[in-house]
Amino acid sequence: MSTAFAPGKCILFGEHAVVYGHPAVAVAIDAGVEVKLEFSEQWEIRNSYHTNKYVEFKAEKNPHIQHIISEIFEYNGSPLRINIQSNLFSAAGLGSSAALSNAMGAALHQLTKPNEEINLIKLAKIGHSAEASAQAGRASPTDSATSSLGGCIVVSGEKIESLNHVYDTKLLTPEGERSWSIHSVELHKNINDAWLVLGFTGEAAPTGDMVSGVANRLKENPALHDEMQAIENITKAGLTALELGNLEAVGMAMNSCHEKLKILGVSNESLDNMVTATREYSFGSKLTGAGGGGCMVALTENPERVAQEIELCGGKPLISRFGSRGAKIRKE
Ligand code: MEV
Repeated sequence: MSTAFAPGKCILFGEHAVVYGHPAVAVAIDAGVEVKLEFSEQWEIRNSYHTNKYVEFKAEKNPHIQHIISEIFEYNGSPLRINIQSNLFSAAGLGSSAALSNAMGAALHQLTKPNEEINLIKLAKIGHSAEASAQAGRASPTDSATSSLGGCIVVSGEKIESLNHVYDTKLLTPEGERSWSIHSVELHKNINDAWLVLGFTGEAAPTGDMVSGVANRLKENPALHDEMQAIENITKAGLTALELGNLEAVGMAMNSCHEKLKILGVSNESLDNMVTATREYSFGSKLTGAGGGGCMVALTENPERVAQEIELCGGKPLISRFGSRGAKIRKE
């Protein structure tokens, strides 16, 4: 038997723009996905998102898992009993599919190569490949890198000299080959005074659909590339504020980022309502992840009050620290 956990993520700045090589800043959150694997008589799966009993494993219903089993590991051993437990909202912009891919990759690695230490960079690449195969080839490595490595991660089309460079990766997308550099960031100690409060609208929005929606709007209206550049400028300002521990400036950059994401067409009424309602008790707030529903995030010193506002708007809150640990094997 093997068990692995991988955290979800919250993008503070740069979602969508990062698919086109602009930088994004993301942090791992406390909630995540645990995968437990056991050898079994038949292929079966229990996924806490859908059911509390084991059902037959069907490849077409589990594209991320199938990709990891057959294409990455080329696994042809005994059937597996796969148990998935998650405390992340699903299809909500919190990186649940990357966390699932990373936890699955780590658990399968532990099961098949128990004496070989898991390499978190390799794991992030496995997660990215599964994301890309499920998102029609358009996926940045943001979710998978943040979930695997943990902490605060910057993903960018170019190497950023002032940051700690971790690895590079590339992908063939429908728009051509893209490459990204992944960096880690030391958070200023002031950041420990703040909390992230995520608010789920209750509306699930598949990332693949949101990403291809933006791709279509960019084709129809190339001027939207200027908004992508504006997001890059905001992301850089937000990153500097994070490194300096200037929470007010981080919050201002989050607010500006939300306005730009609205122009890209990825916000909606529920997100805008929760973002507006939480601002009074926060340094800043914005939608996070793919949008179209899913989640918003507020940066605050008053997490309980912000959580109440989210509930008053009809949303579900989740309070997290900043930059939790990355993927890990759970010893029995
Ligand atoms: C999804 O969490 C973030 C997006 O930027 C897509 C991606 O980076 O692959 C919307």
